[in-house]
Amino acid sequence: MKCLIIGYGLLGKELAVKMQEKGIEFSVASNDINEALGNRVDITSKEEAGSLLLQHKPDVVFLTAAVTNVDFCEENSQRAFDVNVSGAKNVAGACEEHGCFLVFYSTDFVFDGKKGNYSETDLPNPLNVYGKTKLEAEQAIAEAVQRCLIIRTSTLYGQFEPVENTAEKKKSFVQWVFDSLKAGNEIMVVTDQVTNPTLVDELAEASIALVGKKAKGLIHVAGRTALSRFQFAEKVAERFSLNKALIKPIETAQLGQAAKRPKDSSLSLKKLNSLGVKTKDIESALKELA
Ligand SMILES: NC(=O)c1ccc[n+]([C@@H]2O[C@H](COP(=O)([O-])OP(=O)(O)OC[C@H]3O[C@@H](n4cnc5c(N)ncnc54)[C@H](OP(=O)(O)O)[C@@H]3O)[C@@H](O)[C@H]2O)c1
Repeated sequence: MKCLIIGYGLLGKELAVKMQEKGIEFSVASNDINEALGNRVDITSKEEAGSLLLQHKPDVVFLTAAVTNVDFCEENSQRAFDVNVSGAKNVAGACEEHGCFLVFYSTDFVFDGKKGNYSETDLPNPLNVYGKTKLEAEQAIAEAVQRCLIIRTSTLYGQFEPVENTAEKKKSFVQWVFDSLKAGNEIMVVTDQVTNPTLVDELAEASIALVGKKAKGLIHVAGRTALSRFQFAEKVAERFSLNKALIKPIETAQLGQAAKRPKDSSLSLKKLNSLGVKTKDIESALKELA
C-alpha cells in the first residue's frame, strides 16, 4: 500500500509517524512544508492537486489539510470555503481520476449539539462556518469519489502541537491548559461544551486499521469519553499534577467567541466498535500522552 498524506499538521505528522513505524510506504505534502520532508501543495489549486497525485500515484490519500481554527473560519468564511470545500473537491476529483482511495477527515461540529451521542445516521445541522464547510465537503466527496472513507473526529490533542499562536495556527486545548497551569495562570474554561477529546495517536492508528479492514463510507472515530471542556481541563491537571484550582468555570455565552459552538456534539462510536476498533477512555489516553 502506497500512501500520500496531504496536510502536515497535528494529524498529518502523526499519520507519518505511524506509517514509518509500520513500514508503510508513504509521502507527505502540505502548503508550507519543508521541501526536504515532502512536496509543497496548495489544495485550492486544482492543477496542483492533480499533478501531486500524478507524481506520487498513491493507492490511498489521507486528506488532513484544512483550515481548522473555528473562529478564524467564522471571520474568514471565503478562505474556509476555498480550502475546506474547494480544496477537498480538488483532491477528491484527482483521487477519482487516478483511482485512489480517499480518507477524508470531518468533524463533530457538523452537528448542532442539541442531542449528543450522535450516530452516523443522525441529521447534521452545523451552527458555524467551519462545520458548514466540512459538511459540504463530506457531501461533495461522497458524490465525487466511489472509494472513500469519511472519518468524523473531535477535539484532537497530541504531541505535535503548532507552537505559534497566529490566527490559523493555535495551540491545542491540552497544550494551552498545560502551559497555563504550569505557568501558574488562572484559566476560564467552559462547562457547557461537551465533546469526545481524541488522542491524535489513536486517530492515526484507527485510520490505518480501518483502511486495512477496507471500511468505507462515514465513520465516527474519537476518544471513548464524552466530557465538558471544564472536565477535560481538570483531567489534564490531574494527570500532570498541576493546580486544578486555577481552572475556573465559565459558560459559552460569557466568552464572546466568533463562532457558535454546539453544546453537546459527542459522537457515538458503536459503528467503529462493531468494526473491531476501540479507542481509550480519557484517563488511559492522557496517561499514554504523558
Ligand atoms: N484539530 C481538531 O480538533 C479537529 C477536530 C475535528 C476534526 N478535525 C479535522 O481533522 C483534520 C486534521 O486536523 P489537524 O488538527 O491535523 O489540522 P491542522 O493541525 O490545522 O493541520 C492542517 C494542515 O493542513 C495544511 N493546510 C492548510 N491549508 C492548506 C492548503 N490550502 N493546501 C495544503 N495544505 C493546507 C496546514 O498547513 P499550514 O499550517 O501551513 O497552514 C496544516 O499542515 C482536519 O480535516 C480537521 O478539519 C480536527
